[in-house]
Amino acid sequence: MSDADAYTRLPYPGLAFPQTHPDRLALLAILHGLEPAPPERARVLEAGCADGLNLVAMAAHSPGAEVVGFDLVEPALGIQAAAELGLTNVRLEQADLLDMREWGEFDYVIAHGVYAWVPDAARDALMALVAGCLAPQGVAFVSYNALPGARLRTMLREMVLLHAGEQAGLSERVDSGRELYEFLAPWAQDRPDAYGAVLASELERLRRLPKPLLAHDDLGARYDPVWLRDVARHAERHGLRYLADAEPAELRSDRQPPGVDEQLDALAGGDRVVWEQYADLLAGRAFRQTLLCRADAPLDDVIAPARLARLWFRASAAAGIETEPGGESERDDSGGNGSSGPSAVERLALAHPRAFGFDELHETLGEPDPAALAAQLWEAFRAGDVELAAAPDRHVAVAGERPESSLVARWQAARGPELTSLRHEPVRLEDPLGRLLIRLCDGTRDRPALVDAVIAQVGEGLRLTLEGNPVTDGEMVRGQIAGGLEANLEILAGLGMLRA
Ligand SMILES: C[S@@+](CC[C@H](N)C(=O)[O-])C[C@H]1O[C@@H](n2cnc3c(N)ncnc32)[C@H](O)[C@@H]1O
Repeated sequence: MSDADAYTRLPYPGLAFPQTHPDRLALLAILHGLEPAPPERARVLEAGCADGLNLVAMAAHSPGAEVVGFDLVEPALGIQAAAELGLTNVRLEQADLLDMREWGEFDYVIAHGVYAWVPDAARDALMALVAGCLAPQGVAFVSYNALPGARLRTMLREMVLLHAGEQAGLSERVDSGRELYEFLAPWAQDRPDAYGAVLASELERLRRLPKPLLAHDDLGARYDPVWLRDVARHAERHGLRYLADAEPAELRSDRQPPGVDEQLDALAGGDRVVWEQYADLLAGRAFRQTLLCRADAPLDDVIAPARLARLWFRASAAAGIETEPGGESERDDSGGNGSSGPSAVERLALAHPRAFGFDELHETLGEPDPAALAAQLWEAFRAGDVELAAAPDRHVAVAGERPESSLVARWQAARGPELTSLRHEPVRLEDPLGRLLIRLCDGTRDRPALVDAVIAQVGEGLRLTLEGNPVTDGEMVRGQIAGGLEANLEILAGLGMLRA
């Protein structure tokens, strides 16, 4: 069975991946000294985009962006969504990496879950594609199964292939895999040594995977995990270089136990890739999301806090919620500047979950020295107290007078529980009332109109029960619907579903 057949028979589900969004890629590029294109006006290319819904959401939420995606299997659902939503800034096509087509120049190039699952020729074509179309200050996202951690996954994969037999198709492999995992799980649980513990945690991951993910990610035709060092070398052969990991938390000071960073510094001798390779060995890391840039891009590996002046900031938790015992209250509240006003973290925590731009925060705090504020915010980020963003929020923290959900979420809510938030996160909303509200929040209805519209749907699109009996007349539940509306809107706002 060819790769295209396998993905056609068992389609890969379309999810939003926040780690591939230009917001995220721009953030890491800025921190490392690049001047990436603003996410709102970015040109984005995704190779191996599956059904294309990751891109459709990006395009819908950033009308000024230009988004292109292709996959070996036609991204039919994404094409349908773009047409039905009237999006003119997204183009999705069926194409093979091996065709080596010229796609133009892009600020951000994404290849999520492709590199380690395709033959060597396609892997090389992917790197050539990135090298050929990345803008001078552009960023590419390439994710893959990583060594050394994926060795264990390889062991279980190979055992499933043996168990299923050489002739087994993809579905049979999944069935055989599940059979083997069930056989192994109690045994691994009872084994009181390190092998049992490692096996048990890997089996737990495998047993939770939905069928298409288990089939393609772990049991597909190819599964070739790689060392970061080899990906970096491959990138170098194409005139590219390692920029950073896509996860900003990797830059936090608590990533390693105390003292380990210094030991890794000594071992790596100033080579960031080698440093990361030692860290992967320590962590037993099995998956990587690597950002690449052009080899001649003016990258600066030492992060200067002054770069934070271009970012937005949000507290990791609301004021009064302590993440560690004694954490917030025992800290110096002078803001690091000797003044008696609130520190930047406290100001952000009071406004949580609202994000502030640097200038707005600077003005609010009356902190005279922007460099001191930037340094303070960098330390707060490194300590895990503040989150950074390269773009302002697209969603509101509190529902407005006429709440408006995103067009994509309205389209998705009419089809099922898998939605995409304006934070570009996948949200699974099982509650039919929540999904109906998303569809009704189109910016034209105030609260009384929303209640009327929900009531009109009771017994039609919305099936409710009262004391075990189906509700046929919406008026019977008007009080409950009206009484619960604010709480439901609050939930939708908290999930990032309502537009700014
Ligand atoms: C594991 S899936 C990942 C899909 C998606 N990017 C994600 O992360 O959810 C790999 C995707 O790569 C696509 N693919 C495999 N070989 C390809 C090729 N030669 N050219 C283009 N796409 C390819 C598959 O069709 C599939 O959609």
